[in-house]
Amino acid sequence: MKITILTLFPQMFKGFVEESIIKRAIEKEVVEVKVVDIRDYSLNKHRHVDDTPCGGGAGMVLQVDVCHRAIKDNTNLNSHIVMMTPQGIKYDQKVAQRLAKEEDLVLLCGHYEGFDERIRDYVTEEISIGDYVLTGGEIPAMALADSVIRLLDHAIKEESHLDDSFSTGLLEYPQYTRPIEYENKKVPEVLLNGNHKEIKLFRKKEALRRTYLKRPDLLKDYNFSSEDKKLLDEIIKEEK
Ligand code: ADE
Repeated sequence: MKITILTLFPQMFKGFVEESIIKRAIEKEVVEVKVVDIRDYSLNKHRHVDDTPCGGGAGMVLQVDVCHRAIKDNTNLNSHIVMMTPQGIKYDQKVAQRLAKEEDLVLLCGHYEGFDERIRDYVTEEISIGDYVLTGGEIPAMALADSVIRLLDHAIKEESHLDDSFSTGLLEYPQYTRPIEYENKKVPEVLLNGNHKEIKLFRKKEALRRTYLKRPDLLKDYNFSSEDKKLLDEIIKEEK
């Protein structure tokens, strides 16, 4: 996959591409990340990319012609172009899984008061990372790119994202490692006995328990097996 990020602040992505799993995914050629400075597409001698709003008002507006040149120069017919904006559809793991299937993903980050409305005609879709407003689309683009890249083949260990919170429809089960006992808090016995069937059942039950206690809204869309139903009944009794 190739991810192109169109931004007015390319330096913000330095840490993103130079650390940890994303850095390794780039080195392993699982993904290519290209960061493009929108300012390079300004025709203005001062490299301005914004202007005052037509009709008056505070702030500045990102110009359509500058953005369109940046988009045209960095896309082809295959590109899936996402505009990062609080007005977009709300991002979640399902959207991440859908975008992870794209070959050529382009993320357009806005700043200032906003985009000229006509820029919307040149993008495939608009995405928001949540109902709050950030100073720009860079952090949302990083959140989106990070969550997509980790889903790509060979970015992380194959089985690592199979039990992710949300991808199973439930929150992830609790994890433990050594020390086995810390300040009187012990790792659950079942995880130490090597019985894989019991461990699997324990993890399923605890994933259900967490979801029931912390995110009961997720259970509305969850496909319960008969075993799940039995486990949830037990949990409800235990938590009373
Ligand atoms: N730009 C500013 N706030 C945003 C948000 N919540 N999601 C996506 N892009 C944004």
